[in-house]
Amino acid sequence: MKMDVLLGLQWGDEGKGKIVDYLAPQYNVVARFQGGPNAGHTLEFDGIKHVLHQIPSGIFRSDIKNVVGNGVVLDAVIFKKEVEALKELGVDATKNLVISKKTQLILPSHRLLDAAYEKSKGEKKIGSTLKGIGPTYQDKIARLGLRVGDVLSDTFKTKYQKLRDKHLQTLEAYDFEGDLDQMEKDFFEAVDYLRQFELVESEYLVNQEINNGSKVLAEGAQGSLLDIDFGSYPFVTSSNTTTSGACSGLGVPPNKIGEVFGIFKAYCTRVGGGPFPTELFDADGEQMQNVGREFGATTGRARRCGWIDLPALKYAIMINGVTQLFMMKADVLNGFEKIKVCTHYKLENGEQTDIFPYEIVDQKIEPVYKELSGWNTSLENCSDYDSLPEELKQYVKFLENELHTPINIISVGPDRTETIMRNQILA
Ligand code: GDP
Ligand code: IMO
Ligand code: MG
Repeated sequence: MKMDVLLGLQWGDEGKGKIVDYLAPQYNVVARFQGGPNAGHTLEFDGIKHVLHQIPSGIFRSDIKNVVGNGVVLDAVIFKKEVEALKELGVDATKNLVISKKTQLILPSHRLLDAAYEKSKGEKKIGSTLKGIGPTYQDKIARLGLRVGDVLSDTFKTKYQKLRDKHLQTLEAYDFEGDLDQMEKDFFEAVDYLRQFELVESEYLVNQEINNGSKVLAEGAQGSLLDIDFGSYPFVTSSNTTTSGACSGLGVPPNKIGEVFGIFKAYCTRVGGGPFPTELFDADGEQMQNVGREFGATTGRARRCGWIDLPALKYAIMINGVTQLFMMKADVLNGFEKIKVCTHYKLENGEQTDIFPYEIVDQKIEPVYKELSGWNTSLENCSDYDSLPEELKQYVKFLENELHTPINIISVGPDRTETIMRNQILA
């Protein structure tokens, strides 16, 4: 068996949570491989709307093993809250969730550092979720971080204090103060709570599952255009959100990767700062925001909206080795007579390109659009591909042609049931 990977191809919030939950019955294991509580993955079914930040989206299926991989950064306080919220819904995460001992811990002082760094950037701030993601990965790379396995050691508190004191020195240099007392109290309570979970060497577990014939799905967080290497740097997150991140974030070798499912919205959104060539500042953008309820699942911030961007999507498909595409939120475009597709960028020197250029951050890039007819009708009664309006099918075919990859799922609403499977996605 091989491990399939599901990830976002845009700037996050493509609908990964919904689709992982939808596909989960076809898998035995769902594993998160990077990111942390900056993620907000929304699941809707049976009248329940639930947002997961740290916990994989297979958690609602009791027969599925959920894994928090070594590539993740974990905020124990947020994790505890999440587990307790699930308990209220009758889901006992202690039964089907394991955490890698190698997962890095987010300390309260990492959150303060995140805030201090952002403040110091002024106008050029990233728009971080302020969950401490960047500083935690920074300490991981600097070989200073604390890992989940450390909570089992007698010296955990000493290690914690050493790192915290280092952070406090840095915060002084930034002339930044924050009250750590309550945060530390919550942190240590949450660390105690963590000890009731199975803390494992998840690379062994995941590889054994793969070798024993189990089906494993790796659930990405954020999106490819936020990848630390390939995104619109420095307006990115601090991890590899792409397929290679699934290998390093779970300890699965590249030759064990099977399908790569790339998820994208029928348009584009971005939350936080950074370039967004197709961003709209008009009534069309407002319509996408209102109809799509484009407000962040983690921070509640309004998401910026714009037309679909093919140079960016082609780039993400290339970097990830996407084998199948899933198009989300088609219903949000129901009210449009015309739909625009950005096929190329025009650079400042007049050159037209369909690559995602290095200059994206510093240059004013103008999108070149092709206009297609909208379907301008509700999709409420559409339950299979054939029943979709002709213009939507044309949109799908146009995208497939441009992207050289099949679009096998079309999502037409937030609920689990509002999902149109066009082709079988697993052999
Ligand atoms: P994720 O971070 O990729 O899991 O996505 P989020 O949960 O942050 O954001 C996606 C939002 O769109 C959530 O509110 C979902 O409930 C919602 N959603 C997902 N698929 C669809 C869809 O096909 N149509 C509509 N209208 N909403 C959707
Ligand atoms: P999901 O998994 C959308 C954005 C932030 C900010 C930048 C860096 O729900 O798709 P960070 O806190 O990581 O240092 O922020 O990345 N960002 C996301 N945007 N969806 C996410 O996750 C995001 N996680 C981070 O808004 O611009
Ligand atoms: Mg989200």
